[in-house]
Amino acid sequence: MPSRTINWSTPRARDIARELVRSSGDRWTHVRSVGRAADDLAAQGLDIPEDVISAAWLHDIGYATRLADTGFHPIDGARWLAAKGAPMGIVALVAYHSGARFEAEERDLTDELTVFPQPDEEMLDLLTMLDMLDTLSTRPSRDRTSTSWPAQSGPPHACTGPALELLPPSPWTARDLGRYD
Ligand SMILES: [Fe+2]
Repeated sequence: MPSRTINWSTPRARDIARELVRSSGDRWTHVRSVGRAADDLAAQGLDIPEDVISAAWLHDIGYATRLADTGFHPIDGARWLAAKGAPMGIVALVAYHSGARFEAEERDLTDELTVFPQPDEEMLDLLTMLDMLDTLSTRPSRDRTSTSWPAQSGPPHACTGPALELLPPSPWTARDLGRYD
């Protein structure tokens, strides 16, 4: 039976993310930026669901070494959250965030991904937007028209998709965004 002892409020999600990801340097910097962006939007009065804010903090916990299972962080994070009894809305957002369904296909992990329910598409798009905006703002300097990352630096968020400049301004659908971690 999943644990019922965890309080899944946003502050708790922040604490869990810090505990799991803090030691991973750039990853924690990114997670903190995405989480804070969600917090800020809510503080400014945007009607942003709490599940999205919590998922913003938790979306990359699957990178934590101790959570490694399939090696695909959306699934590994979602599995851990589900095992801990997290609300399924948060679990689903973490599982499918930022185009995970497309990369799951490439990794032959669709069956492992689709055990999780599909999240609300608008909430998923909002989470993906927050994730991608931080990726855009923190990437290393490079030829902004290039479709590849400098070999010596690599992407800040393990982006495997095409040039981020090609992203449409709206709507921020996962399919339009392509493949991202
Ligand atoms: Fe991320």
